[in-house]
Amino acid sequence: MKTLAIIGCGRIAKNAHFPALSKIEDVRIKYACDLIPEKAEALKKDYPIIENIITDYKVALADPEVDAVYVLTPNYAHYTVTMDAIKAGKHVFCEKPITVNYALSCEMAEAANNAGKILNIGVCNRYHKSVEMLEEMNREGKFGTLYHIYCSFRSFRSIPGLGGAFTTKSQSGGGVLIDWGIHFLDLILYILGNAKLKNLTCNAYSEMAKDMKEYKYTGMWAEDTADIENGTNDVDDFITGFIRTDKASISFNGAWAQNIAKNEMFIDFCGDKGGARLTYGGKFEFYDGSTLKTEAPEYDIPDMYEREDRDFLSSIESGVKNRNHIDNILESAKLLDRLYASAEAEKELEV
Ligand SMILES: NC(=O)c1ccc[n+]([C@@H]2O[C@H](COP(=O)([O-])OP(=O)(O)OC[C@H]3O[C@@H](n4cnc5c(N)ncnc54)[C@H](O)[C@@H]3O)[C@@H](O)[C@H]2O)c1
Repeated sequence: MKTLAIIGCGRIAKNAHFPALSKIEDVRIKYACDLIPEKAEALKKDYPIIENIITDYKVALADPEVDAVYVLTPNYAHYTVTMDAIKAGKHVFCEKPITVNYALSCEMAEAANNAGKILNIGVCNRYHKSVEMLEEMNREGKFGTLYHIYCSFRSFRSIPGLGGAFTTKSQSGGGVLIDWGIHFLDLILYILGNAKLKNLTCNAYSEMAKDMKEYKYTGMWAEDTADIENGTNDVDDFITGFIRTDKASISFNGAWAQNIAKNEMFIDFCGDKGGARLTYGGKFEFYDGSTLKTEAPEYDIPDMYEREDRDFLSSIESGVKNRNHIDNILESAKLLDRLYASAEAEKELEV
């Protein structure tokens, strides 16, 4: 039996981790913590497994019964809450991105490793069935030489919480690249077999809501955190770049918003023997270069969050670092940092 405290009871808690954890036997959720207690109380109605509602996460950290905490707060709080939890002797699952920059990410990894505690990061796509299958196909040589990967994470109107934490760089670390790009680029590095970065170039744009009051939208995700009147928008809403790794090159475009009324969320894997297009969050098609046939494998897609949470809990038990251990995610954090640095310097950078 593992005793947990969940810190941050917003969207990812409600939509992903509570549904997942409630399916796992041998889990006790002793605390649900949110600065806004109504959010934790609303969750308790759906998940009576929650034993106590608190607003100060330090109460949970001081409880010797708590084995591990989930840090499901906005990006700006990941570092502080995680470091406090490690100091208190807890294992930690922290949502993606690790934190707002690479230097602080490294400090978090060092602290966890020095304390002998597991620290996992919620790059959940590493547990997506399609991603696992593509990773295995690459290891088995089905693509031949995988020489280039292209990905698009572009949407028509999806700037979240305009003017709030999402669009304030000091709180979020960035815009569409750190929020969506992390998922795409991390799963690419993973499928390539933990590819190491060589050099890269990137351009970032913040064009669509320069004047926040003039931004036209049909719906806004995380609108409860928006502050269009008085807030800040200093992050990328469009991003493009090119990355060389020791395995393959990668190019990408991402848009939280663009004046192209299409949502294009996919990854193309180009190999000399075969290729694949992965529809993000869904299935892939494989294109065989020798038969010129298209294969669309049939398979079920189990809940990736449940698989991610189960693996975190078993990692705590065994002490074995699994695929989402922070040590295995730092290259992705470094990638985001260098891409933003390249965009700022307006030139190609060695990594
Ligand atoms: N893995 C994924 O696919 C995925 C998807 C969405 C969000 N996320 C990540 O999850 C994190 C949370 O995102 P969200 O959309 O759930 O945000 P949210 O704003 O809906 O929820 C965050 C909650 O944390 C609470 N909070 C903030 N500081 C706190 C503190 N010190 N103590 C206790 N509670 C605190 C807030 O009151 C809020 O209720 C972000 O880092 C985001 O990048 C990951």
